[in-house]
Amino acid sequence: MPRHLITSALPYINGVKHLGNLVGSMLPADVYARYLRAGGHEVLAICATDEHGTPAELGALAEGVDVAEYCARHHETQRELGERFGLSWDWFGRTSRPQNHELTTHFAKRLRDEGYTDIRTTAQVYSLADGRFLPDRYVEGTCPNCGYERARGDQCENCGKQLEPTELIDPRSSVSGSTDIEVRDSSHVFLRQSALADRIRAWVDTKSDWPQLTRSIAYKWLDEGLEDRGITRDLSWGVPVDPHDFPEAEGKVFYVWFDAPIGYLAATREWADAGRGGDDAQAAFDSWWRTDRGAGDVTYTQFMGKDNVPFHTLSFPATILGSGEDWKLVDRLKSFNWLTYYGGKFSTSQGRGVFMSDALDLAPADCWRWYLMANAPESDDSSFTWELFGEAVNKDLVGTFGNFVNRTATQLDRHFDGIVPGEGEDGEPEADLWSRVELRLGEYVEAMDALQFRRAATALRALWAEGNGYLEVREPWKTVKVDRDRTACTLRNAMAVALVDAVASAPFVPEASQRLRAAFPADAGAELQLDPTLASAARAAVDAGDAFETPGLLFAKLAPEQLAEWADRFGGDGEPGE
Ligand code: MF3
Ligand code: ZN
Repeated sequence: MPRHLITSALPYINGVKHLGNLVGSMLPADVYARYLRAGGHEVLAICATDEHGTPAELGALAEGVDVAEYCARHHETQRELGERFGLSWDWFGRTSRPQNHELTTHFAKRLRDEGYTDIRTTAQVYSLADGRFLPDRYVEGTCPNCGYERARGDQCENCGKQLEPTELIDPRSSVSGSTDIEVRDSSHVFLRQSALADRIRAWVDTKSDWPQLTRSIAYKWLDEGLEDRGITRDLSWGVPVDPHDFPEAEGKVFYVWFDAPIGYLAATREWADAGRGGDDAQAAFDSWWRTDRGAGDVTYTQFMGKDNVPFHTLSFPATILGSGEDWKLVDRLKSFNWLTYYGGKFSTSQGRGVFMSDALDLAPADCWRWYLMANAPESDDSSFTWELFGEAVNKDLVGTFGNFVNRTATQLDRHFDGIVPGEGEDGEPEADLWSRVELRLGEYVEAMDALQFRRAATALRALWAEGNGYLEVREPWKTVKVDRDRTACTLRNAMAVALVDAVASAPFVPEASQRLRAAFPADAGAELQLDPTLASAARAAVDAGDAFETPGLLFAKLAPEQLAEWADRFGGDGEPGE
């Protein structure tokens, strides 16, 4: 069996993430990790906060704290929210930790030794008032093209023209507003991506199983010609350049997009280092990342939003390939479109949309997980609406899954004291039930293996509905008065279907599934695996005499007034945003 390495794009340290961020990488990575674990696979699921760069420095400035403290605080917030959403990382690391410093330094040196770096002098804007170099987008001024007064140094938001900060009229620092700025020369390390383009193309050519969206993004960039890129910056917060390796760039730090993906490895190294000594830690780390040291059987799947695709199909592979060492490259890459809020952007500053922290005050994590994954922006952007959220909870979770479990448990409790009865022979209706359950399960497993989450959710919803369909045909609440054997048979089979549901639903709604699973005796289907054998295994695992503890209501209904009030509070007025 292959081992599975799973990473989610590393959330940037600034602020609490909104639901679009969650569904675009972290949540699907978790759902897939849970699915594979439930199928008996060995999985390592890795995430971390991406902590370097100017936004972190400015965020700290705004909060009036030291940047290290700022990052520590926000890392903790994100870690805790992730945990409350049920994100089951094997490790949630930080790119500011020593492991990332070491690996980033290592890769830069390897790239230099392989001849893939050089030093170039570039003109940078320096703000005397702020005492710092300003990245292009923190220089503001009048657009030479359209006259818009708040154009950014990288691009004019008004006319869309790409700019150099030196082209702006009346340039000023957007950090302080100061016009006391000047252009200074600065030498930087460049990664010669152009020299790696052929190797990257040859590698992309082998990825015929990547989705069309991913491949076309990669080829677009390759066809336009991969440009060399500066991998250092004039900032103080980041991984410092080692002056032994690059004396000309002493005092600079690596660009955040250079060190962030190395963070996947570094967070794995954090995981390996936790509770292990030197050689053991090295071996544990290597077994996931070094194909020459045990990672040959690893399947590596990455999850990310579509804006991240070029970095993962080109820039990061350039770092890996250029190192001349046998590091693991990504095998499967799953990217997502945008989740919008009523067709507009989620916006912290305008208080539009739902953020991870708000969400958990309103409804349990399972409700959000189900809604988001069942409506994931897979083949297109999708729009969050309170109506759809209410429907996902009330129809699917309460009305279908919860209703089936509740009816079954109630009948069993009322008529058989909660003990699975042995009477009554399975007949034609049961054969029919189980062939349907097998079918739904097959569809579900196939979709999950293909990383098609909406299709998987559709199959799961259909699986839940099979249970209800069976109860409606067999009507145990009626037959109990006239045919106890038949009723016993019905409820025994319904219980087995509930056990299938408990196992199959766990990747999407782990908390409720766990509660349902715990209602069965501990040994009932302890070894059940989420794969095509699940249906027959669960059927065999539910035995006459098993005591079933009613799990209570799995999900609570959301009242329409409640949804309306939230729509009001979070700006769900149906007005598309900017
Ligand atoms: N922090 C980036 C973002 O939010 C993603 C970084 S992914 C990594 O878009 F690979 F660089 F870590
Ligand atoms: Zn303009």
